[in-house]
Amino acid sequence: MTTDDEGRPGGTPASGGPDRAPRTPAAPAPGTPAPSAPPPDAVTCRGLRYAFGETRAVDGVDLAVRPGEVFGLLGPNGAGKTTAIRCITTLLPVPEGMVRVFGHDASRERMAVRRLLGYVPQQLSADAGLTGRENVALFARVFDVARRERAARVGQALEAVGLADAAGRLAKTYSGGMIRRLELAQALVSAPRLLMLDEPTIGLDPIARTSVWEHINAVRAATGMTVLVTTHYMDEADQYCDRVALMHHGRIRALGTPDELRAALSARRRAARNPAPPTTAPSPGAPATSPAPSSSAPSRPPETAPTLEDVFRDVAGSGLDEQSGDFRDVRSTRRTANRVG
Ligand SMILES: Nc1ncnc2c1ncn2[C@@H]1O[C@H](COP(=O)(O)OP(=O)(O)O)[C@@H](O)[C@H]1O
Ligand SMILES: [Mg+2]
Repeated sequence: MTTDDEGRPGGTPASGGPDRAPRTPAAPAPGTPAPSAPPPDAVTCRGLRYAFGETRAVDGVDLAVRPGEVFGLLGPNGAGKTTAIRCITTLLPVPEGMVRVFGHDASRERMAVRRLLGYVPQQLSADAGLTGRENVALFARVFDVARRERAARVGQALEAVGLADAAGRLAKTYSGGMIRRLELAQALVSAPRLLMLDEPTIGLDPIARTSVWEHINAVRAATGMTVLVTTHYMDEADQYCDRVALMHHGRIRALGTPDELRAALSARRRAARNPAPPTTAPSPGAPATSPAPSSSAPSRPPETAPTLEDVFRDVAGSGLDEQSGDFRDVRSTRRTANRVG
């Protein structure tokens, strides 16, 4: 299983093929500069725990977000996603475990961590009584963007999210999708290396969701920033995230690329459907899992390719629906959606 697996960098996820070169024992030639240490992960959590009284909201989370990737923290309502995100942003302390952002300890170097990140909280953070430009300018001041750069940076951030033309209008006249993009601009104005988005598309219609994601991707492509996003929309994570962690009851239940997670479930299903015949010796070179859908059971109907939601249901086990609500129908979701929409 891929639980807690951080799997160090390894090529294109889609191929699944190993691209690691074999280790060479040879010492570097004299005069060769020492190989520089690999860059730190954008986010590292080790044994992160956070409890509200008796509620263990985050219950021992280990994960590593690599620089430049879009990493999705997925899970139903109450899984602990927002609490984990708040610990990473330093808005909550780290009572147990360790959190680092680009190598900086979130407990001991809070200001250094804060300077590196932009944060779009789950709750509304735009002021309806201000214009789009005024909202972004407020964040530029709060995040200490140099005074002489502010106007240009505010303009660039609004441009990046497609709100340049609407910048002079009050935010209360914006649609839900525009408000989310405005909040994105607020988070981008400080040019963060790590953008953290908590349910950025909650309650939006499909066109607005796509638009939010397209702007996130365009900014990422232009700047190389890392994106850590929480969502309970599995389809969205599948489409836009390089890797995902599936979180349930405060723990990471699986971690990998969407392709890897689906392939692993296909393999588990195949193993359950076709128990290995006792006489057949396994081929020594055979891969542990194969992403190809099963075609070796002609007497059975073909297996449908699993979705990420299928993977979640498989790794979360029983209790998903009655304990946590469905992925969509949750009260706090609606509360935020109402306020945004
Ligand atoms: N301020 C709080 N006080 C008490 N319990 C909380 C508070 N915030 C969250 N919780 C509880 O912590 C758990 C995780 O919540 P949260 O991190 O918001 O999950 P998610 O973002 O995945 O929906 C839930 O059981 C929730 O009820
Ligand atoms: Mg949340």
